[in-house]
Amino acid sequence: RVFFYLVYKRKMKFDIITLFPDYFSSPLNESLVKKAIVNKILDITTYDLRNYSKLPHKQVDDSPYGGGAGMILKPDILTKAVKATKKTGSLVILPDPSGKKFDQDLANKLSTKEHLIFVCGRYEGVDQRFREKYVDLEISLGDYVLGGGEAATLVILETIARLIPGVIGNTESLENESFSQSDSKLLEYPQYTRPEIFEDLKVPEILLSGNHQKIKKWRIQQAIEKTKRLRPDLLP
Ligand code: ADE
Repeated sequence: RVFFYLVYKRKMKFDIITLFPDYFSSPLNESLVKKAIVNKILDITTYDLRNYSKLPHKQVDDSPYGGGAGMILKPDILTKAVKATKKTGSLVILPDPSGKKFDQDLANKLSTKEHLIFVCGRYEGVDQRFREKYVDLEISLGDYVLGGGEAATLVILETIARLIPGVIGNTESLENESFSQSDSKLLEYPQYTRPEIFEDLKVPEILLSGNHQKIKKWRIQQAIEKTKRLRPDLLP
């Protein structure tokens, strides 16, 4: 059994290139992600982009050609940072509002990779040539603009991390939840725990019946109704 475990234990490596490495210290040191790091299923390293600048004051950005407001992250410095950690098989990801919309299907695909490198943009932009030469995938969380790629990286990282076998103890809880199966995207059915009566609301009778077949059917029904009501766009 131990041998089986050793052979099949999957490990993922995340590298994060950022101007704010401290931004990640608390989120990576809590809960599920922390446990995965302690259990050596996840290996996460942050790289301070400034360390790759040889300019006075460790400058990493410059004004845009053609004029305009804001500063642009320099392609040569970003490239040096990426090359410090890139290996064959690494996937370089740039969180950016113009990227591919992030969803569970994309997270599932990314969770099969061994090494992801996140490049966190900041300020007003990233030189186009760096994107063309070194970025494999730009990902957007949604149609809004964050201050930079750090918060987006955390969201993407956490979504992927919990899909790696062994990160969540109970794999069944992954299978039943919203968005988990790409063929049936339903919101999760309502869940209840003790007390049986809370304020004026009682737990649905069927959940106390002990009839697991009926309960299963009821949950699917509830999930379909809830999805129809709240997210009809998810249904075929
Ligand atoms: N960086 C800034 N805004 C973003 C967004 N909406 N998604 C991903 N990365 C971003």
